[in-house]
Amino acid sequence: MELEKVGVAGCGLMGHGIAQASAEAGYEVVVSEVSQEALDKGIGKIEKQLAKGVEKGKVDQADADAVLGRIQGTLDTGDFADCDLVIEAVTEDLPTKLELWKELDGIVKEDACFATNTSSLPVAEQAAATGRPGRFLGLHFFNPVQRMPLLEVIEADDTETGTMEVGVGFGESLGKTVVETKDKPGFIVNRLLVPYLLDGIRGYEEGIGSVEEIDIAMKAGAGHPMGPLTLCDVVGLDTLASIAGVMYEAFGESRFEAPATLQKLVADGHYGVKSGRGFYDYSGDAPVAVDPGS
Ligand code: 3HC
Repeated sequence: MELEKVGVAGCGLMGHGIAQASAEAGYEVVVSEVSQEALDKGIGKIEKQLAKGVEKGKVDQADADAVLGRIQGTLDTGDFADCDLVIEAVTEDLPTKLELWKELDGIVKEDACFATNTSSLPVAEQAAATGRPGRFLGLHFFNPVQRMPLLEVIEADDTETGTMEVGVGFGESLGKTVVETKDKPGFIVNRLLVPYLLDGIRGYEEGIGSVEEIDIAMKAGAGHPMGPLTLCDVVGLDTLASIAGVMYEAFGESRFEAPATLQKLVADGHYGVKSGRGFYDYSGDAPVAVDPGS
């Protein structure tokens, strides 16, 4: 199947990156949000990234303009009707995703493929909410989408071989390193990464180091590009807590349980980079570690 037009539902942390990466690969993109404010914020992030690229001499102004010109922002899911592939990147909440898929199934042309960018929720359950489970798969991107090379392509029980080929081909056309995997909670990366991040928080609670010391240690001692508590903030503490909830329910193992500090930060509305505060405060020029208990 030849893909020309890609729909992205959600223009938040992941959705704006998927929309940008798709437009950079030459696809026509329609990206939706639930409010004009959220849409403007997401498109604004894409504009900022493109402007940075021009400033650094990585892309010329005409190409950046062309990328932006291929992205149509909308508040109307009706604009997805003629998309060849629709990827959802909405809140990590199953009822929200199921409602969206039921709506899109009645709008988008029958031979189009649907993909969820879920971090941990079952792909099969979402596929079953549509009349096209054979053309439904998982496409799991990593944050920041524009930079992270990996795309996990997830096969659910009913995903047809041709649909997997569409997902793999799409990922490769975006220049991603593609790994095919199965519909198990957390897939490959989050199965390994999430317990590590949660252990970073538990280590902090147990006093093995300050927020900064834990991050410095893993960068200098294990060669990670960022420390675990910084990465928690980048992923989004609300998203991390919801992934932990799904994985704890699925595996019943304490290593997947959200630590008290994570629960408190989320309850206080501190979601990390996206809300301006998590394990660090992002209101100044450089992030400053804060006491998560305060
Ligand atoms: N959006 C877009 N581009 C970004 C970005 C962002 N938020 N942050 C940084 N970049 C770009 C910069 O513009 C720069 O681009 P250039 O090479 O064209 O100049 C490039 O990334 C490198 O940036 P910096 O030099 O400022 O910083 P680093 O060298 O430290 O790299 C990083 C930044 C790529 C984010 C690196 O720190 C990293 O790889 N961190 C780990 C990220 C990670 O593990 N992500 C996965 C999270 S798990 C996930 O997403 C799954 C989900 O289900 C939870």
